[in-house]
Amino acid sequence: MRVRKAVIPAAGLGTRFLPATKAQPKEMLPLVDKPAIQFIVEEAAASGLESALIVTGRGKRAIEDHFDRAPELERFLKEKGQEKLAEELQRISELLSLHYVRQKEPKGLGHAVLCAQDFVGEEFFAVMLGDDVIEADPPALRQLLDVHEHRGGSVLAVLEVPREELGRYGIIEGEEVERGLWRVRDLVEKPRPEEAPSNLAVIGRYVLSPTIFEILRETKPGRGGEIQLTDALRVLCQEEPLYAYAFRGQRYDVGEKLGYVVATVELALRHPEIGEDFRAYLRGLCAKLGS
Ligand code: UTP
Repeated sequence: MRVRKAVIPAAGLGTRFLPATKAQPKEMLPLVDKPAIQFIVEEAAASGLESALIVTGRGKRAIEDHFDRAPELERFLKEKGQEKLAEELQRISELLSLHYVRQKEPKGLGHAVLCAQDFVGEEFFAVMLGDDVIEADPPALRQLLDVHEHRGGSVLAVLEVPREELGRYGIIEGEEVERGLWRVRDLVEKPRPEEAPSNLAVIGRYVLSPTIFEILRETKPGRGGEIQLTDALRVLCQEEPLYAYAFRGQRYDVGEKLGYVVATVELALRHPEIGEDFRAYLRGLCAKLGS
């Protein structure tokens, strides 16, 4: 059966962005003029999914408002002759059929995924994290879905990362079954570089078997007292085929400050409205810094 549903966990506390995230969700921080979570919902729609469940928590109301209609605002813009912008706002609310569930306490990514069990049922489904914004054609999730449709089983997106960054990710151990595709035998969460089984880091796109829910229900809190998705994936790969796919595309880690600024600069350079002026500004700045 075709994968139809995505789960978008967005209930984390966003401590790496405090104080910006004290009163607003990390997922709503904009890359130029678009909140990070809109990139995710657009990718899900462009990958052919039908619906998504956003797992939210306390203080995340702005996410629901963002994907809702804003009739007064749209009317106001139309009256001012800004028809295109009004249509753009309406389009946001029509991207995908969106549903929401609240994770009552931030008990970890694994726990957030478990909150989606009723929504997902017995189907394979996608998990997409707002920390990873990916520019790719075809979209990164579409690439994973193609692997799933071809091979069956669950599929993780992986990226080769430099040695000094291995300790920030879940790292896979496995054998390459096809160029850029590994059968996963085990995973290690945030290893020391010398203990890492490979340089392939799991990033925020997954196609998962519904078996993961049974496993998550049995998964004890791990690192940081949180229920870790990686711990459940370690069990899943013993029971069912789990693949890791090195997707093609440019990924931005917008869940941490430097990655967020890098993404902002790169997207600003390509922005249809400000790109040219921003490039001229950066040229001037570089010349000044170089002198
Ligand atoms: P992170 O590890 O990036 O946590 O979660 P965080 O709280 O968002 O950010 P920091 O580390 O404190 O700055 C990865 C993803 O899992 C979600 C987050 O919203 C993010 O999309 N998450 C995490 C939940 O939905 N619930 C949780 O309990 C934890």
